[in-house]
Amino acid sequence: MAKPKVLATRPLFAAAREILNADCEVDYWTKRERISKSELFRRIKDKQGLVCLLTEKVNEELLRAAPKLRIAANVAVGYDNITVADCTRRGVAATNTPGVLDETTADFAWTLLMAVARRLGEGEQLARSGKWKGWDLDQLVGTDVWGKTLGLVGFGRIGQAVARRATGFQMKVVYYDAVRAPLDIEKGFHAEYRDLNALLAEADFVSVHVPLLPETRGMFNAKTLSQMKPSAFLINTSRGPVVDEAALVQALKSKKIAGAALDVFEREPLIHAGLKRPNVVLAPHIASASLETRTKMACMAAQNVVALFKEQRPPNILTPEVLKAN
Ligand code: DGY
Repeated sequence: MAKPKVLATRPLFAAAREILNADCEVDYWTKRERISKSELFRRIKDKQGLVCLLTEKVNEELLRAAPKLRIAANVAVGYDNITVADCTRRGVAATNTPGVLDETTADFAWTLLMAVARRLGEGEQLARSGKWKGWDLDQLVGTDVWGKTLGLVGFGRIGQAVARRATGFQMKVVYYDAVRAPLDIEKGFHAEYRDLNALLAEADFVSVHVPLLPETRGMFNAKTLSQMKPSAFLINTSRGPVVDEAALVQALKSKKIAGAALDVFEREPLIHAGLKRPNVVLAPHIASASLETRTKMACMAAQNVVALFKEQRPPNILTPEVLKAN
């Protein structure tokens, strides 16, 4: 029997290719530049499966160009690039990669938090510049992390992994989430629930871990940023549009907050020019980018595809109705 045809918009990693190649005929996009929309639409025409990245939009327009498509497997946990309702309506399964990137992403949220608090970006630049004149008492003094209050906005798996790391820094942890966690979870993480207003007023570091939803888009805006302490820092490893960048630039300029550390941006790969300031640490959306984790993510996407073609339930299905209908 002919193998199902799959398009992968990246070469993935060898381990993921091995999983896919065993059961599918895969067309890998191997050029360094991103696949263009027209090329994507041309190649998807005869494919039953798609392995895509968060930079590709899986929506009605793409689905119309893909009449044979049965599954779109995102190599990311966030799936705001996929219009789930369109997939469901067209009977296309959609999957993501939850769980495998939590610890790696939490590590990076801490990397950013530490970097902005201790002015690592500025220090690194100075050390490389040849202009460093030697140790000085008040040189690049930052702010302590240990003993401070960490405010987590979003207390899912990644938020909780960030909380776990705070214990070593003797920090107080407060969190806000649309759904309050059970008491035993709060106790386990030594985390106290706050409503968003109270959290913003209390936290020294506000770290964002919410998915991009209509309710979270622009959650950090002129109003919420002005509720933070002037000494506080904002850390975002979730999705760029959760923060209104123009409002953030204003808040930084007017010293409403002390600084920010950002891995994600409203219009990636564009970064608002006003964010390129010394008290902002910038990273190019790499929070989950360890070789181990990115390999696991790619393998997970491959396993979702293979499961569907074996008429099994893809482990990370986002469109369960599609399976019921078959
Ligand atoms: C995701 O998985 O949603 C990240 O943004 C990339 O790891």
